[in-house]
Amino acid sequence: MCNPSIAILGAGAIGQLIYHQLVKAELAPYFITRGKTSGQEVLTLTHLNGQVTQSTAELHCIASSDTYKSECLLLSNTRLLIVCVKSYQVLDAIKSAISQLPKSCHILLLHNGLGPHLEVEPLLQGRGLSLGTTSQGAFRQDTWRLKQTGTGITQIGHLSGPLMPSALKLSLLRAIPDSEWCTPILPYLWQKLAINAAINPLTAIENCPNGALAAPKYKQEIDDIVTELVDVAMATGIELDKLALTNRVYSVIELTSANFSSMHQDVTNKRRTEIDSINGYILARAKEYGLTTKVNLSLVKRIKSIEASYLN
Ligand code: PAF
Repeated sequence: MCNPSIAILGAGAIGQLIYHQLVKAELAPYFITRGKTSGQEVLTLTHLNGQVTQSTAELHCIASSDTYKSECLLLSNTRLLIVCVKSYQVLDAIKSAISQLPKSCHILLLHNGLGPHLEVEPLLQGRGLSLGTTSQGAFRQDTWRLKQTGTGITQIGHLSGPLMPSALKLSLLRAIPDSEWCTPILPYLWQKLAINAAINPLTAIENCPNGALAAPKYKQEIDDIVTELVDVAMATGIELDKLALTNRVYSVIELTSANFSSMHQDVTNKRRTEIDSINGYILARAKEYGLTTKVNLSLVKRIKSIEASYLN
């Protein structure tokens, strides 16, 4: 039986990984889907050590007419909604679910990049909003079979509105390995943005694993990406240590050297990338403050032109 208080919107790799972690902590969340039918699915996770666990998940679609009443009841009992869709899907996902969620429901956005919170906040009608980022790695072998590919920290923190109720917050931090509550959250998300801004587009353009970016030929570009980001963050009131951040980018390059970044995978599979909420977010904020970000602009253009070759 699922626990009606925690819902996950988005059953991609991160949504499913968080699901398995909450199940292990006996929080048994359910999935909200935008498909046509509700039902159950058996989800399988292969852990890093090869151990395999399975659990049956309840999937509830937002508006299937036959089950509409029971869906409404379930949604109206939801106390925490964890949104794990791609950054460019966040706004639509929230729009489709929000009217059915109680006013007391807290929202947690967990995606790569930054930006969707700016459009989501005005739709929440007083609900609390937290943001988070995770460096855990997983990929879907098929729809409901997940393989964990790496451990990593998960950072979550309050952004606006009422705080996440402390019992929920503690349960969440207990369930997700290496997770921490970060206050204020935005500087942490800018730091993660720097990692994604440096690694994701370059690996997608160069068609290489993360580790290849340790080569000296990428040093200047990585340095420029981080410098531009630090200047823009500073204009928005967030102070970052450029040297520490650059070192962090290189440590992620080393720690994930054999991995292919999420943007590399998106391009390889001819999917839309999250460039708008990564380097594109840096451009958008730079524009507001009259700053130029030449290197990030060039990366956005190169990724957009790759996307155009298969999306149009
Ligand atoms: O988006 C990704 O792939 C990951 O966030 C990261 C940290 C760049 C590692 O591949």
